[in-house]
Amino acid sequence: MTTERTFSIIKPDATRRNLTGAVTKMLEEAGLRVVASKRIHMTREQAEGFYGVHKERPFFADLVGFMISGPVVVQVLEGEDAVAANRKVMGATNPANAEPGTIRKELAESIEANSVHGSDSAENAAIEIAFFFQPEEIVG
Ligand code: CMP
Repeated sequence: MTTERTFSIIKPDATRRNLTGAVTKMLEEAGLRVVASKRIHMTREQAEGFYGVHKERPFFADLVGFMISGPVVVQVLEGEDAVAANRKVMGATNPANAEPGTIRKELAESIEANSVHGSDSAENAAIEIAFFFQPEEIVG
C-alpha cells in the first residue's frame, strides 16, 4: 500500500443537481482526502485538450459539449492506493453496469452524464493534475 494522488472531476450533471457535497462525501468515506479543489467552467479548448486521447472516438464531440455545459469541480485526491480506491468508489463508466453503493450507480444519469471522472493510472493522474493545478494549489 502506498500513499498516492489521483485526479477527479465532478461533472456538470452532478454540479447541476447540487451533488458536489454528496459526491465528495462518498470520496471521503472511501478513504480519500481532498487536497485541492476548485469549481471551474471549462473552456472548449481545455475540454478538448483534457480528453485528447478520445478525439477519434464517436462520442468525442458530445463528450466535450457535455463537459462545457456547466461548471465542474476539479479535485486532487490523496490516500492509500488512491487511483484504485477512487475507481472502485466511482464504479463502472456506464452506471447501468456499476456496483450498488458506487457514485455512478447511486448518482449518475447515463454513460455520458456519469457524474465523475477519475484517473486510470498513477501516470495519467500526474498528467491530469498538472493540467488543472499548480503545485502550490495542492495542500496535503
Ligand atoms: P470519463 O472517465 O470522464 O472518460 C471519458 C468519458 O467519455 C467517460 O467518462 C464517459 O462519460 C464518456 N463517454 C460517453 N460515451 C461513451 C462511450 N460510448 N464509451 C465510453 N465512454 C463514453
